[in-house]
Amino acid sequence: MHKTLLAEIENGTFIITINRPDKMNALNKEVFKDLDEVIGEIYQNSEIKSALITGAGNKAFIAGADISEFLELDASQATELATRGHKLFDKIENSPKPIVAAVNGFALGGGCELALACHFIYASENAKFGQPEVNLGLTPGYGGTQRLTQLVGRNLAMELLMSGNMISANEAMEHGIVNKVFPSAELLPKTKEILSQIQSKAPIAISKTIECVNNFDHTQQGYDLEIKKFGECFATEDAKEGASAFLEKRSPNFKGK
Ligand code: COA
Repeated sequence: MHKTLLAEIENGTFIITINRPDKMNALNKEVFKDLDEVIGEIYQNSEIKSALITGAGNKAFIAGADISEFLELDASQATELATRGHKLFDKIENSPKPIVAAVNGFALGGGCELALACHFIYASENAKFGQPEVNLGLTPGYGGTQRLTQLVGRNLAMELLMSGNMISANEAMEHGIVNKVFPSAELLPKTKEILSQIQSKAPIAISKTIECVNNFDHTQQGYDLEIKKFGECFATEDAKEGASAFLEKRSPNFKGK
């Protein structure tokens, strides 16, 4: 049981719901602590095959870091906060199991950054994305300048980060931030559906795919990593099962070995 979020396993998918709807699910210290624990659980609990992160209520995914905790921070405490945030979001990004953001409303500041750290994003029609930190005299602190720029390119990132403007779910989809947009009632079912499809694949191949994509690199290093991971797959039972099942015209039964 966590104070600031709900977490339950449903058909192998860990459903994490940030649960501070009266504060637009803003990320305060307690949410960070709880989130750190449940993300750790994704790594450790073999019953969990995939995860989705969403927000409670119908207005917000996460409206950013909790601004009420900002006034007390000095420069060194803020650096520490950002370091902790980066560590947690890196843990999301590098999770060996897929983690999808189901963005169901405002995804602002740290909320947008958290969604960007997930492996991909599905959104509801009322979702809004933005990095409004400049309105507070701040830069993003949980990876926004880096992940957003990598995803949408320098010029759009500059515009969004410097203006603090929000964009709609459909605009976010046009720019490749969001993969698919659904009516609100369909967001969670559709997110669970894609995760259940991914769960039917070989888990080791999925985790190596995540590793390769996260280490995307135009230089030979990226290709070398792919060669290495491809080779490693052949040491798994699942690779034998995959090829055998295809040749025997049946569905594979992957065991994650
Ligand atoms: N931190 C702390 N509290 C927040 C918050 C945040 N990031 N975002 C919203 N809240 C709180 C509000 O203070 C308000 O609390 P109150 O009812 O006790 O006054 C409650 O959530 C509802 O927000 P409200 O502003 O009244 O809702 P709205 O529908 O008018 O506006 C937003 C919604 C998301 C546009 C607006 O709340 C907002 O701009 N939030 C800040 C976003 C931001 O700057 N994030 C980056 C932080 S680094």
